[in-house]
Formats: sequence, C-alpha cells, structure tokens
Amino acid sequence: PLGLVDGRLVDLTENVVPMEDRGHQFGDGVYEVTKIYNGQCFALPYHMERLYRSLRELKIPVTYTYEELAGFHAVLLQESGIKEGAVYLQITRGVAPRTHSFPATTVPRLTMSVRPADTANRQMWQDGVKVICLPDERWLRCDIKSLNLLGNILGKQRAKETNCFEGVLVRDGMITEGTSSNFFLVRDGVLWTHPATNLILKGVTRTLLLEKVAPDLGLPVIEKPFTVEFAQGADEAFLSGTTTEVMPVVKIDGKAVNDGTVGPITRQLQAAYKNLIE
Ligand code: PDD
Repeated sequence: PLGLVDGRLVDLTENVVPMEDRGHQFGDGVYEVTKIYNGQCFALPYHMERLYRSLRELKIPVTYTYEELAGFHAVLLQESGIKEGAVYLQITRGVAPRTHSFPATTVPRLTMSVRPADTANRQMWQDGVKVICLPDERWLRCDIKSLNLLGNILGKQRAKETNCFEGVLVRDGMITEGTSSNFFLVRDGVLWTHPATNLILKGVTRTLLLEKVAPDLGLPVIEKPFTVEFAQGADEAFLSGTTTEVMPVVKIDGKAVNDGTVGPITRQLQAAYKNLIE
C-alpha cells in the first residue's frame, strides 16, 4: 500500500511517524477523505477548502498550496493505478517535545494514503440500512475535521455491535449527524437536515445534495434540528458521506421508517448524485 509523507512516496508499512508527532500524541491535526471515481478525485476543491478551514480553526500554519495538494493526489492515483477508491490525507501540527501549548518552531506534517473502494456498500445502497440512536458525547467543535474521533469511534462500534450500519447521534434531544455521515429525512416532500453549526461536520456530500442535487430535483430544503421521534415518523430517511454516498435508512432504533422500504425521493437523490459523479 502506497503513501506520501510531505510529498515523498513511501510504503505504508514503513515507520514514518516520529513518536513525538503531535498528531500521534495529542490527535493535534486534521484530515480529509476524498473519493476516487473512474481514476479521478471527486469534489477535490470542496475537500481542500474544508481542509484549509480546519487548519485555520486550529491555528495550524498552511504550508501547501491547493496546486501542491492536488498534485499529491494525482501522484497517488498514478502510482497506485487505483480507479475506484479513496485518498486519506492528514496534516498534524508537527513534531515537538510534548507540551500542550503550541510549539514555536514546528512545521506541520502531511501524510497521505490511497486505498481501493470497499464494495460492501453496494447491497446496502439498494436495500437500505438500520441505524441506532446514541447520545452525542463529542466535543463542541464538530465542524472541524479533527483527528480526534473517539466519540465517533465509540458510536460506530456500538452501532456495529447492535447490527446497525450507523450510530445516529443525539444532543439535547435533537439528531445532529451520524458518527461518520450526515443525516437527512424527507417529510411531506421537504428535505430536512441539521444546520451546519458547530455541532456537525459540514459534509461535502451534504453540501452537494443541498446546493446542487436538491435544487435540480426541485426539492425544497430546510436546515433545522429535529428529534428522533420526528425522524421515525418521516416519509424517508438517509445518510450522506464521501464513502457512504446516499445511504437509505429504513429502520431507526428498531422502528421502520414509513413501510420500511427505500423511498422514491431517496432513489431520485441517489440517481442524481450518481450523475454528478459521471
Ligand atoms: N467521514 N459527519 C462526520 C462526523 C464525518 O466523519 C463525515 C465523513 C461526514 C460526511 O462528510 P463528507 O460528505 O464530506 O464525507 C459527516 C469521513 C468519510 C471519514 O471519517 O472517513
């Protein structure tokens, strides 16, 4: 498996991360996951724009231009030959003796890897998935795509243990998002999702659905928090994400959404999203 460290090609089995990298010691860094379709990165400018925002919010200096980052993605695609897959990119604050406050002289470190796509989702895009609702135990800056994913990891593991595809997180009685996806529902022909506040990650897939796909379909959108009961009573529900794409949700906490089958608007959104890719 191939990777890049500050633009240098490495094998992923090589030892490339120093023990005192702040990403390793504090989770002090940010990341992006970009999908590869037909040998090309999808929505790369959106991902890199969000990466720069995450860096800014954490006061990590920007040391790579968009052109350089796009070039590194191209190298990984070229060298791996992967046509369907995903690129993982992370930037940490860099290497320094361990103290909580920012080191004065450290240079951020960029590491990247590329992997072929997981084919496990295929049947689930057809049939839909079950989700479990869980308390959102994360911090209050979920808008930053930080390496710190403990709340997300614990939620996803709990979902897996209960035979669910995703854990849907609930804060103060309102659904925020999935552990690695955004949550949507359809009610009376209107598309609902949590607003892009500090409580959720503003997903690139979410943005594309709200700004391109829904308007094209003439689907009205409301960004407003809602309860689990409201979601269970929806006509349709689904998750969105880079690797998740548009994933129908047919059961929430064991309760069927509508008749427990994938709804027509979700199908339309899946098809229209696919058209964006091609
Ligand atoms: N997860 N919300 C959370 C908490 C996420 O981790 C993700 C993405 C999303 C969807 O964002 P996007 O549409 O930009 O992928 C929402 C990535 C894929 C991951 O952690 O692997």
